Amino acid sequence: MTATPRDASATIVPLGRNLGAELRGVDLTRGITPPVIAAIKRAFWANPVLVLRNQRDLGPEQLIEFGNAFGYIAPHSILQYRHPKYEQLSYVTNVKPDGSLDEYGYAKRATDWHADGVFKAKPDCMTFLYSIAAPSVGGHTEFTNMYLAYETLPEDLRRRADGLACFHKRGKGWRCTAPPPPLTEAQKATGEFEGNVHPLVITHPESGRRSLYISAAHTSYIVGLERKESDALLDRLYGHAIQPEFQYHHKWQVGDLLMWDQRCTMHRAGGGAPRDEKRIMMRGMIVAELDAKRAAA
Ligand SMILES: [Fe+2]
Repeated sequence: MTATPRDASATIVPLGRNLGAELRGVDLTRGITPPVIAAIKRAFWANPVLVLRNQRDLGPEQLIEFGNAFGYIAPHSILQYRHPKYEQLSYVTNVKPDGSLDEYGYAKRATDWHADGVFKAKPDCMTFLYSIAAPSVGGHTEFTNMYLAYETLPEDLRRRADGLACFHKRGKGWRCTAPPPPLTEAQKATGEFEGNVHPLVITHPESGRRSLYISAAHTSYIVGLERKESDALLDRLYGHAIQPEFQYHHKWQVGDLLMWDQRCTMHRAGGGAPRDEKRIMMRGMIVAELDAKRAAA
């Protein structure tokens, strides 16, 4: 691939000590071209929480074009927040359509640490959020690095974790304190939300690194262990994973397009925004496997 001048000028600036980076020199409003996407992917494999700032006035169709470059964009299970015209996109917002405060969106949504879609047979691999309105203080999204969480475990615990698997079910996590809104009868009838088992430690297909794959909101138990033992082990892994050293808290600016890798991070809403300030983002969740070969081409 021949690098365009814009590719050549793209630089990565770390934001947190162990997680979070900004990719500078990319302007999606000037075109979502294959070289631009390739540059983003190369940065993303090494930086699983990556933000492009000042991407002003991107519309839903551009965001869908962006998401499609990474794989299939799965509609979100919470129907009330879906974009009215484009089901691939949904809102993360503290404002109801009539302009009043959305209490769930303000104070309860996504407040437990989690990775998106771990309860699915084919979980989400990447999510992006695009900031439309940001509060002056608070409202951060917090991330933690699950590569590091795994790599820094004591060896005996790491070995033990390697051989285990977990059952995950939407909102049924062993530490879920704020479950998502209930599913509709039609959603339940699909059978897609009955829960699934995935390894406790997964290998990232692009980076080859291993990471802990748990979610306080959705991981119910470790398969084959008594409940008490499962809870205790999950607590130990979780406590290790969310240590401040591994975290990055993103303060939103309007025009931020932030993408993160669900296979090697957890995240949550940090809260703390003023009740009378808007926090509105548009979101897309990518399910299909990301294609490293294409990024490297
Ligand atoms: Fe989430």
